[in-house]
Amino acid sequence: MKKYILSAVVSLALGTAIVHAEEAKTAPAAGVSPVKIEMRLLNDAFKNLIDSLILNTPETIEEPFHEIHKAKANTEAALEKGEIKLPKNGDKMKQFIELDEQFHKKLEILIEASRKKDMKTVQETTHKLLNGCVQCHSKFRN
Ligand code: HEC
Repeated sequence: MKKYILSAVVSLALGTAIVHAEEAKTAPAAGVSPVKIEMRLLNDAFKNLIDSLILNTPETIEEPFHEIHKAKANTEAALEKGEIKLPKNGDKMKQFIELDEQFHKKLEILIEASRKKDMKTVQETTHKLLNGCVQCHSKFRN
């Protein structure tokens, strides 16, 4: 009996994970905020970045960030239409856009460095990006 319950729990968890991954790739999904879609892609790209840094494979860094570029365009369009609702400090949209711009500039530095296989700059920029995630989340999400 216990075994059945366990396997039901496992398949439920796996099912949720698959749905989550699928949802992240279909931009813009109905009802899901474009910020969330961008963030899920960013999360995947960032984890891949950490792996690439640790394994010293600069050539694997760039690709996952391309999807984010497209997702950012959707976020910007929704921002212009006033459709974005932030979980926190929603009235400080100007500051949110500024943080977002700064963050994307750091992403460009990262991609450039990865193309040059300059792993020192990749590592430094990764630290700055991580600070950027935490900074923006503490202001607008958590
Ligand atoms: C400029 C602001 C900003 C930056 C920078 C930022 N985030 Fe976010 N992030 C947000 C906001 C706002 C939300 C909440 C969106 C919502 O709930 O509607 C969010 C949500 C998320 C989520 C949850 C998505 C979901 O499905 O609910 C993840 C994961 C995430 N961010 C990862 C990251 C990572 C990783 C980084 C850095 C590499 C990062 N974020 C950088 C603003 C930011």
